Amino acid sequence: MNIESRQPKAAKAMGPFYQEIIAKDGDAPPVLKLEAGVPQTSEDIPLDRFTSQDFFDLEMKKMWRKVWQYACRDEHLPETGDYYVYDLGRHSIVLVRTESGKIKGYHNSCLHRGTKLKPSNSSGYSAQIQCPYHGWTWNLDGTLNEVPCAWEFPHLDYEKNRLPEVKVDVWNSLVFINMDLSAPPLLDYLEVLPEHCAAWDFTDWYVSVHARKELACNWKAAQEAFIEGYHGPMVHPQLSGSAAQQQHDIFGDHVSRDLVALGVKTRRGGVEVTEQEVLDGMLMGDRSLVDGEKPRVPEGSTAREVMARQMRDAYRTQFGIDLSGMSNSEVLDSIKYSLFPNLFIFTGISLRILYQYRPLGNDPDRCLFDILFMRPVPKDGVRPDPAPVTYVREHESYRDVPGMDPGFGLLFDQDTQIMRWQNEGNHATVKGAITYSNYMESRLRHLHNTLDKYLKA
Ligand SMILES: [Fe+2]
Repeated sequence: MNIESRQPKAAKAMGPFYQEIIAKDGDAPPVLKLEAGVPQTSEDIPLDRFTSQDFFDLEMKKMWRKVWQYACRDEHLPETGDYYVYDLGRHSIVLVRTESGKIKGYHNSCLHRGTKLKPSNSSGYSAQIQCPYHGWTWNLDGTLNEVPCAWEFPHLDYEKNRLPEVKVDVWNSLVFINMDLSAPPLLDYLEVLPEHCAAWDFTDWYVSVHARKELACNWKAAQEAFIEGYHGPMVHPQLSGSAAQQQHDIFGDHVSRDLVALGVKTRRGGVEVTEQEVLDGMLMGDRSLVDGEKPRVPEGSTAREVMARQMRDAYRTQFGIDLSGMSNSEVLDSIKYSLFPNLFIFTGISLRILYQYRPLGNDPDRCLFDILFMRPVPKDGVRPDPAPVTYVREHESYRDVPGMDPGFGLLFDQDTQIMRWQNEGNHATVKGAITYSNYMESRLRHLHNTLDKYLKA
């Protein structure tokens, strides 16, 4: 059965929709005024897609090895010889900045006896790529340079023993890999993303906080928690907004998005809040943006207007960046694009974050979830190094990650703690299926639809 692809009218009772809010602002760019909707069907989805080893193996073979996927930021390997290891299931790719300045990616396995050339999750500098077991050594361009006791290997063809490569491409300072050497170009894969992000440059930004947590759930379940706001009232009782106002758009197989207006009054639980309370709530999200006295909402103004002004002032004084040409929506809102299969990009100024999801080992019940907060490089300053990865163990809190805002830390704790419960319940099911909502959970179904296109190809 086909469903209504626009926001259900009944949700209006909870407050204004995103399009109404930005129409009132009067300054939103065309790309945010778009409403593509979420055209789909509403059938149940089998739950064994999350739990079955066979299904996981099929995903690995037919999807993960065929798609462009986000690996790291350009800034993670700025100089010749810098490397960064991207692990994916049991695959491991070592990305290297070569002498030509280009980034190359190699399967992280020695051609002698298979040892990993660089440890998982590592990064650093290395003039050559040397196996830590017997010392076979490759040049950064992947050519075999040296084999200790070479006289033992008269049968070795050096030319045939170049490190096997993956495809690598960079868009907007994000580094992507594809294990399929015959894959179409990254730009084709990105669909509308480059066009939509034309005004949102990530190059002059750096990673200010980087948290990585192993989750006891399937990689799709981890991702799903962040493309629906339906769980808000149960999992995040401290939040006052309503998820029913969130706009969802599906643009193609790989790209969808959600738009959430910040700094607006919504109704949840019938409680009316004041503009000042809305502003206070927003300022909790990023205390670094407030110098000195707590801002007030003047009579006749709104929290949204005050907060947008606050942001523009803070960016001018702290980073030397002029945001006067940016709309309130771009400055304030949560604008989040999903790129199948492993990346979410927040493109707004106040929330510029990357989420990365990937299977871990050969296990449908485990995945890695990376959160990268980004900050602008000060116009007159030196580019700071990207923040090192802070690992968050299952019973640790994101609030203890250096630089993490406590409000966000709490949100991430809540989101990730529910996942073990969900995963265990997925295995305990007798229904054997998921029933998604039509609009708020539409992009979860879309994730499965796109996945199926790869699995059936
Ligand atoms: Fe959440």
